[in-house]
Amino acid sequence: MLYIGIDLGTSAVKLLLMDNTGAIQNVVSKEYPLEFPQPGWSQQRPEDWMDAVLAGVPELLKGFDASQVAGIGAGGQMHGLVVLDEHDKVLRPAILWNDGRTAKEVDYLNNQIGRDKLSRYTANIAFAGFTAPKLLWMRENEPKLFAKISKIMLPKDYINYMLTGVHCTDVSDASGMLTFDVQHKRWSWEMLDVCGVREAQMAKVFESYEPVGRLLPKMAEKLGLPESVVVCAGAGDNAAAAVGTGTVGEGACNISLGTSGTIFISSERFGVDPNNALHAFAHADGHYHLMGCMLSAASCNKWLMEDIFKTSDYTGEQAAIPADSLGRNHVFFLPYLMGERSPINDTNARGTFTGMTMDTTRADLTLAVLEGVAFAIRDSFEVAKSLGIHITRSKICGGGAKSPLWKRIFANVLGVKLDIVESEQGPGMGGAMLAMVACGEYKSVADVCEKLVRVVDTVEPDPELTALYEARYQQFRKLYPALKPVFSEIH
Ligand code: XUL
Repeated sequence: MLYIGIDLGTSAVKLLLMDNTGAIQNVVSKEYPLEFPQPGWSQQRPEDWMDAVLAGVPELLKGFDASQVAGIGAGGQMHGLVVLDEHDKVLRPAILWNDGRTAKEVDYLNNQIGRDKLSRYTANIAFAGFTAPKLLWMRENEPKLFAKISKIMLPKDYINYMLTGVHCTDVSDASGMLTFDVQHKRWSWEMLDVCGVREAQMAKVFESYEPVGRLLPKMAEKLGLPESVVVCAGAGDNAAAAVGTGTVGEGACNISLGTSGTIFISSERFGVDPNNALHAFAHADGHYHLMGCMLSAASCNKWLMEDIFKTSDYTGEQAAIPADSLGRNHVFFLPYLMGERSPINDTNARGTFTGMTMDTTRADLTLAVLEGVAFAIRDSFEVAKSLGIHITRSKICGGGAKSPLWKRIFANVLGVKLDIVESEQGPGMGGAMLAMVACGEYKSVADVCEKLVRVVDTVEPDPELTALYEARYQQFRKLYPALKPVFSEIH
């Protein structure tokens, strides 16, 4: 049988067709626009996502026997607020995970409602990208539209709703809304009340690997698929990527280098970071995870290459970096181009180069960006360490993980072994694997991971380089506290 994985990303939807042995048969990607209507705001039209899926699936199936497709599973960008009226019309563009407009609402939630209560209700505190502050923002700034909300959903749930007619979500994605009691896997009535919404507006919650329905006849026709195709609940893109890289079980770790950068630590038991710097979310395998998320990771490199250097030759730019400059770069970069989430939770933080001299080169700046992203992930890694979690190896995936140089920098900045899996299609692959479990092809998420995910290479840290990076990291971590007061003045 065949399975379709949907990776509903921030710049594009990536679709993959996989057979039941895990072999990827075809991949299609369709881009859509991202709007930044004001500095720090970030929105997208849900209709564009659906159009991309409708255009992409028939292309994905070209030359294959569509009657063999048994299931579809999506991994989607998390936290985005999608609101529909009673006629299922999208009320406004989705407010995305990297949108920073809700500083006031975050402050209200964390300081008026209080972090303790939030953490008790949901296992998390408020961050600007989370969904609950966006609901409060809409209530305050768009009261007429807010009054018309009939259904509240997350990005991939909009796709699932259009495909099946079932208003559903899954535990991993629901965890990032701050309206979900993560430990007990049910909506938090207290938080729904705080946000002024009713449970009837919220989706029915499923485990990520559960089937939610089958294709609506009109959708089956548009996509060129049989109506029998099962749609599974799917997962937030990080949990889906964790499945796609086999990051399940106690202490397994995955680093994702996409538009965002995340460190995802799987756990069999529910646990909360007492300072809530790491998110405590449900995992797509039926258990839990802790996660740190930086808002701009591979996007910092893309910004430097395409917007500043006006080049698409990422490989050439990285090849110009002298090997002996690793760990010796005197230029530092703070990667806060969209403010920052984990662990500093500061919408005012901004990107900064520092340490430049007259002999600084273009290659030094390129290296500083790659290193700055790795140092910022190390900040979340340090939080995990302080909780007694000792990570010695991790998987790595996402567009940024295509760069051998960046993987080497990460292995040495973190001092861990990085296992490279055969396919980099983290969330799409995870989505297809969840669909396989939903269709009964494999008995559990752990089982499908064990059978389908293959490690093909390992990047080992080098003790000398790790020591050099240790010294650099200790310098890097002084920069944000020193600049924080300035950031709050210049935002
Ligand atoms: C995770 C997060 C991002 C998005 C990116 O909390 O906000 O990783 O899911 O798609």
